[in-house]
Amino acid sequence: MVGNWKIKLRPIISILLLIVFLIVAVTGIGLAQAPSGKIAHATAWTFLGMDKPTLESAHTLSGIAMIVLVVVHLAINLDMLVNELKVLTRK
Ligand code: HEM
Repeated sequence: MVGNWKIKLRPIISILLLIVFLIVAVTGIGLAQAPSGKIAHATAWTFLGMDKPTLESAHTLSGIAMIVLVVVHLAINLDMLVNELKVLTRK
């Protein structure tokens, strides 16, 4: 029981990171297709049912969440990352 949450934290963070990455990527692709704000408004433009301001908010918020999750992900997997760098730099 003790330490169980630590074992589960790693996969929880990894899966959350995958989900948030997909949201960032999809909303980013939507923003890349979006016309200017005035045109988007005048033509009632949407991407996957989201208007431009909604898409911008979803992208910014999921982007910030992704940065936080990446930092936690790197922190809890630092040992493995260091080992991998050692393997690559070993002569
Ligand atoms: C898969 C990764 C990403 C893709 C493909 C992507 C793509 C895009 C695109 C195409 C735009 C619109 C740029 C324009 O004005 O023409 C945009 C805007 C933006 N992106 Fe990303 N982005 C990604 C990751 C991130 C991350 C990690 C953040 C961190 C916060 C972020 C924050 C923003 C912000 C703040 C804007 C401006 C939104 C606005 O107009 O209000 N993006 N992104």
